Amino acid sequence: MKQTKWWKNAVVYQIYPRSFQDSNGDGIGDISGIISRLDYLSELGIDVIWLSPVYESPQDDNGYDISDYYAIYHEFGTMEDMEALIREAGKRGIRIVMDLVANHSSDEHPWFVEARKGRDSKYRDYYIWREGDRNQPPNELTSVFGGSAWEWDEESGAYYLHLYSRKQPDLNWENADMRRDMYQMINWWLDKGIGGFRLDVIDTIGKVPDQMITTNGPKLHEYIQELSRETFQHHDIMTVGETWGANVDNAKLYSNPDGSEFSMIFQFEHICANWSEDGKWKQGKKDFVKLKKIFSRWQKELWGKGWNSLFWNNHDLPRVVSNFGDDGRYRVESAKALATFLHGMQGTPYIYEGEELGMTNIHLEDVSQIRDIESLNMYEEYRQQGWSHEELMAAINGAGRDNARTPMQWDDTDNAGFTTGTPWIEVNPNYRTINAKAELADDNSVFHYYKKLIALRKSDAWKDVFMDGTYVPFMEEDEDIFAYTRELGAKRLLVIGNFHDVERTVTLPYAVRKILLSNYQTPQINALQATLRPYEALMAEL
Ligand code: NOJ
Repeated sequence: MKQTKWWKNAVVYQIYPRSFQDSNGDGIGDISGIISRLDYLSELGIDVIWLSPVYESPQDDNGYDISDYYAIYHEFGTMEDMEALIREAGKRGIRIVMDLVANHSSDEHPWFVEARKGRDSKYRDYYIWREGDRNQPPNELTSVFGGSAWEWDEESGAYYLHLYSRKQPDLNWENADMRRDMYQMINWWLDKGIGGFRLDVIDTIGKVPDQMITTNGPKLHEYIQELSRETFQHHDIMTVGETWGANVDNAKLYSNPDGSEFSMIFQFEHICANWSEDGKWKQGKKDFVKLKKIFSRWQKELWGKGWNSLFWNNHDLPRVVSNFGDDGRYRVESAKALATFLHGMQGTPYIYEGEELGMTNIHLEDVSQIRDIESLNMYEEYRQQGWSHEELMAAINGAGRDNARTPMQWDDTDNAGFTTGTPWIEVNPNYRTINAKAELADDNSVFHYYKKLIALRKSDAWKDVFMDGTYVPFMEEDEDIFAYTRELGAKRLLVIGNFHDVERTVTLPYAVRKILLSNYQTPQINALQATLRPYEALMAEL
C-alpha cells in the first residue's frame, strides 16, 4: 500500500500569538488564550497550528528576534503553558508546528552578547563580521527593513551583517559549531512532541555577502540537507520553508518527495505578481490572467515532483479579501470565492487567523497607529525621498503588515473579545459586524464555508482527488473566471468561480452531476451553461 504523508491531507491554521487571544488583560495575546480557543479551531476542522515565534525575545520584530530558543517569551506564558498547548491540541488531533528562526538571532542572544566582546570570543564566528571603517560599510547590501545591512559595532570595532533589523544579526552557517548547536535545539523541541517547523527566511542561510548574494547561495541546499538529516528525518513531522527566492526548479529540491529537505515551501510568486520592481510599496494593476498562470505553472510543475503550500495570507501580508477580493459589498462572496480558488488545488492549504471570518485590512491615518517595524522604517525612508504623508499611509494601508496583525475578532464586545485590557495594536472597528460569534451563528458565513470546504477536502469520496488528482485549467485567458478540474481515475472535480463583480455566462467542458459546494444559494447551471454572478464560485462533480 502506498504510504501517504499525513500532511498532504492536512489543513494548517496560522496563529500570530500576539494578536490571537489575551487571557490576562495585558493587551497581548498569550498561550493560555490560544488553549482557550482550541475548541473553535477543532470546530473549523484544521489539523495543524503553525505558531509564529513564541520564544524569549526582546520583540524588536515581534518574536522573529530570538534571545533564547529554549524559553518561552514571558508575556506569552511559560514552558508549562507551551507543553499544555501541545497536549491539549493533541487531544483534539491538532499538531503544533513551531516557527524556527535560524537565519538570525536577537542581538540579545547570549551568543551575540559574547560574540561582540571581541575577536577572540568563542562565539565570534557564529555571526558575520567584516573589518572596516565606521563611515564606510563593507558594501552596498541593504536590509529588508531599510538602510544598510551592515551595522558598526562600537564594542568590537567591526561591522556585523543583519539582513533584517540591526537587532537581528545574521548567523553564520559556515560555522559547524553554530550548526551543531542549532540542530541540538531543534531536536530538543522535536522531543517535546511538536508536529514540525516553519523555517523563517531559510533561503538566505547560504548567503555570500561579499558577492552580494543573499538568497539561493551556492551552499544553500547542502546546509538544508544536513539540517534535515540531523533533525527532521528522525521524526514523522511536517516542515515548510519560507523561501521568497524560490522558483519551480529549486522548489523540486526543497520539497523533494525523497524527504531530503522539507515537506514543502512557501513560494511568493503569486503574492508578488502585482508588485513593481521596487517592491510591495508601489503596486501595479492587478492582472488576473497573470495570477492564474502563476498558480497553474506551480500546480503542473510540482505534480509528482514536489509539494505546494497553498496560501493567500500570513502575518506579513495584507488581508486577502482586501487585496484580491472586495472588502465592501461582496466581502462574504469574495472571501468564499478566494478560498474555493485556492483550496481546490494540489497542496497543503494554510488559513491565517481571521481569514476564515473574512477579516479585512485596517485603515490607519496616523503614524502613531503603526506598530510594525518595517512600515515605521519605510515611512521615514520614503518621507525623505519626498513621498507625502497621504501617499505613505495609502501604501501602508494597502500593503503593510499591521493589516494582518490587528486582533482576532471574536465577538462584538469591547476590543472584539480579544482582551479586557488595552490591545497592543488597534482592533479593526468593523469587529461589531465581522466576528467569530456572529459567524458561528450564521450558516451562510465565511466561517461555515471554510468548514465545509475543509470537510469536503477530507471526505472519503474526494480526498484522493484533492491530494493526487491532476490539475487541468481551462479558460486560462479569461479575465474574470477561474476554472480548472482535478482528475483522478474516473473522478472529476470542477472548481470554477468568478473573481470579479460582474455577471458572466460560461460553457462547461462536461455536464455537472452534482454540486458539492457553492457560495450562492442556487447555482444557475443549465446543461453545459453556467451563469456566475459577482464572486460566485463552486465545486462540483462532473
Ligand atoms: C519573515 C517573517 O515572516 C517576518 O515576519 C520577519 O520579519 C522576517 N522573516 C525576519 O525574521
